[in-house]
Amino acid sequence: MLEDLSQHILDISENSLGAGATDIRISIANGEETGVLVFEIEDNGRGMDPDLLRRVIDPFCTSRTTRRVGLGIPFLKQSAELCGGGLEIRSETGVGTLVRARFRTDSIDLPPLGDVPASVGMMLVLHPDIRWRFRYATGHGDWTLDSREILEALGDRETLRDPSVAIWIREYIRENMNGIGSQ
Ligand SMILES: Nc1ncnc2c1ncn2[C@@H]1O[C@H](COP(=O)(O)OP(=O)(O)OP(=O)(O)O)[C@@H](O)[C@H]1O
Ligand SMILES: [Mg+2]
Repeated sequence: MLEDLSQHILDISENSLGAGATDIRISIANGEETGVLVFEIEDNGRGMDPDLLRRVIDPFCTSRTTRRVGLGIPFLKQSAELCGGGLEIRSETGVGTLVRARFRTDSIDLPPLGDVPASVGMMLVLHPDIRWRFRYATGHGDWTLDSREILEALGDRETLRDPSVAIWIREYIRENMNGIGSQ
């Protein structure tokens, strides 16, 4: 139940992958000076129709009890609401989905970032056919990683299977996040 942001990244990205997305953008804007942390995942997957969207946001509101409704989104919603923020989803069938969670940074329930470099790095390595873009922003700066640039630097995606490359990617993300100050 008490997940850190890196676990939410895995959960919500899994949804995007399950929706057949080929382009996934993950963004964390850690605005200590604004008092708000905004976490977003946007994809170009198949999207949700309004009925599904309603049920996804509030799984207990549905009269249907036969259908399993997952917990990835409700957990994120609960976590954001506990921190005086909230969850917003925009989705259009055939176009894609944007999941946005806002947290107040002064909340004692603010989830820790956790190992964001490991989560993002793992997604990149496990799903090399997806274009991943990861953005991290703080009051000190803004950094974006595009998996296409990584693939170009490596030459071919087979190289991603090399464990030392996975470690390199993770540490590269970590250094850049640390460079602009994490949490
Ligand atoms: N990005 C997305 N694009 C399209 N449909 C989505 C997306 N995210 C969620 N959904 C739909 O919403 C449902 C609920 O998502 P949620 O993450 O809450 O649970 P789940 O993925 O079904 O199960 P769990 O996350 O617990 O393994 C999904 O099964 C899927 O139908
Ligand atoms: Mg899910």
